[in-house]
Amino acid sequence: MPDRLADIAAEVTACTRCPLAETRTNSVPGNGDPTSPYLFVGEAPGFNEDAQGLPFVGNAGNVLNRLIEGIGLQREEVFVTNIVKCRPPDNRDPEPAEIEACSGHLRRQIELMDPEAIITLGRFSMNHFIPGERISRIHGSSHEVDGRIIIAMYHPAASLHQPGLADTLAEDFRQIPEVVAAARARAEPAPSPDPESTTATDTNSDPDSPRQLSLF
Ligand code: URA
Repeated sequence: MPDRLADIAAEVTACTRCPLAETRTNSVPGNGDPTSPYLFVGEAPGFNEDAQGLPFVGNAGNVLNRLIEGIGLQREEVFVTNIVKCRPPDNRDPEPAEIEACSGHLRRQIELMDPEAIITLGRFSMNHFIPGERISRIHGSSHEVDGRIIIAMYHPAASLHQPGLADTLAEDFRQIPEVVAAARARAEPAPSPDPESTTATDTNSDPDSPRQLSLF
């Protein structure tokens, strides 16, 4: 698998599918542990990322690292990439055509890594997976999209401009391991009932009573 991920990185490095190829210094395929359950997807490289060819290495990256450490992980233990792999000039918003041109790279990265959760960072990344939603409405929540768990987060840089969002981001990040743990629990086969037991109480014996099956 790492070899083929390296193939995608090589394609990203040589990519000329959109005009950002003409203005970039380096394209930024992504980095981290490709076997991680967690795939973080940001918006697009900025000045530092373009200079180094690595995602989230500037101020927003420092915030992201602290948020990841806040849930008991190191940055190297997750994979981090962006929906757009080259820097838009002057850090402008990525254009729909650029996102579309880059989407094949991200799709193949996701297929290869098969993460348990995709954590979107910011509204562009969120809207790539959940079109038409508002980040202010769904931040911190998880959604099942095409069989994958998507967890929407504010962009880490948002807390640099709005310090009040730092606590919100930290609280939302705490959902990440909980959502994945709940998905793993749902995926586990139910233990078979002990036929010898006569004392077990069935708390949900009414077949018509509703049961919470998912946290989505
Ligand atoms: N912001 C992003 O969305 N991605 C980066 O890689 C850096 C800053």
